[in-house]
Amino acid sequence: MRILFVCLGNICRSPMAEGVFRRELERRGIDHLVEVDSAGTSNWHVGEPPDPRARRAIAKRGVDISDLRGRQVSARDLDAFDLILAMDAENLSDLLALADAAQAQRVRLFLDFAPKAGVREVPDPYFGEEDGFDMVLDLLQAAAQGLADHVEEELRRQGKLTRA
Ligand code: 4NP
Repeated sequence: MRILFVCLGNICRSPMAEGVFRRELERRGIDHLVEVDSAGTSNWHVGEPPDPRARRAIAKRGVDISDLRGRQVSARDLDAFDLILAMDAENLSDLLALADAAQAQRVRLFLDFAPKAGVREVPDPYFGEEDGFDMVLDLLQAAAQGLADHVEEELRRQGKLTRA
């Protein structure tokens, strides 16, 4: 399975989503069965490492994302990934504008996997304060668990996960 996280800049929300979701897969011992990546709808930060505030906030939770580099989402990604997960409604509509009807089926809001979170969009922390990154990480971690449950179910359905 291949999963792509998408935000605007690919330096705050989607690299943090990639980091916490990778860690959740490792915790469950299924990281070898899932490919994870992130990208931005804009080309503003291509080649850059994640924002220092994002790196610091996620490091406090024991995850290192300093080796990630920004890239822009492309039309090819819509075929290459099984799930393309947008952080907010603007990312979602930008992705749907690139997608044909079949590809659009694989594009969702990431927080659809955290129905109890009470919000549907991950707020953009870029222009805010440092503590905004901690709040974003709480949302991302909740959705990462819901997504990992969904992935396990799908892997089981495909016969790739045989243990309970
Ligand atoms: P991200 O945050 O989409 O979560 O990576 C942003 C990063 C950069 C900008 C906006 C949002 N920017 O305007 O450069």
